[in-house]
Amino acid sequence: MTVDVEPARPADLPEAVAVIHRAFATLADRIDPPSSAMTETVDTLAARVERGGRVFIARRQDGLILGAVCAAPKPDGSVYMDRLAVDPSACGQGIARALTDAVEDFARADGLGPITVGVRLRLPDNIALFRHLGYVETGRKAHPGFAEPTSMDLAKAIGRP
Ligand SMILES: CC(C)(COP(=O)(O)OP(=O)(O)OC[C@H]1O[C@@H](n2cnc3c(N)ncnc32)[C@H](O)[C@@H]1OP(=O)(O)O)[C@@H](O)C(=O)NCCC(=O)NCCS
Repeated sequence: MTVDVEPARPADLPEAVAVIHRAFATLADRIDPPSSAMTETVDTLAARVERGGRVFIARRQDGLILGAVCAAPKPDGSVYMDRLAVDPSACGQGIARALTDAVEDFARADGLGPITVGVRLRLPDNIALFRHLGYVETGRKAHPGFAEPTSMDLAKAIGRP
């Protein structure tokens, strides 16, 4: 499916939140602790942008928002990507690829990198997706209160333009 990926405007944020909630709701019975994505609101997305982060949306030709992703530049030059979300009705059609490409393009244009991401170990399909997109494991960590690792950190170096 063809989508345009663009920075979210303030008017896009309610639908971006709705897409994030619909996407991450599909993980509810697979991960513990629950994803903090479910607590995302218009205000928390707007605050990310105010702090220098980016919120990108994937828009279908008719205007419908079918995906979203957030990116946060860090002091060391890396860019932390999270909230990668595609509407459950539109998965498997390249929208996540388009969203991650946009984050990589943004980082490349600003001379930033690598892109970093955290993926739950209980979601091997997501780990496989990120490996497919060129991300490599850099470590594992446990959420607070968990004795064993619950998530994998992955990173992708970004070449200069
Ligand atoms: C995970 C999610 C973002 C994927 O979105 P999607 O639009 O279906 O993904 P895409 O179709 O763009 O796939 C991206 C690429 O990964 C590949 N891929 C997908 N699943 C894969 C798997 N299990 N193993 C290997 N490659 C995989 C696709 O073939 C595609 O590769 P290509 O561009 O070379 O053809 C979506 O299912 C979602 O929102 N899930 C719920 C929320 C979530 O899990 N977010 C991520 C948290 S880490």
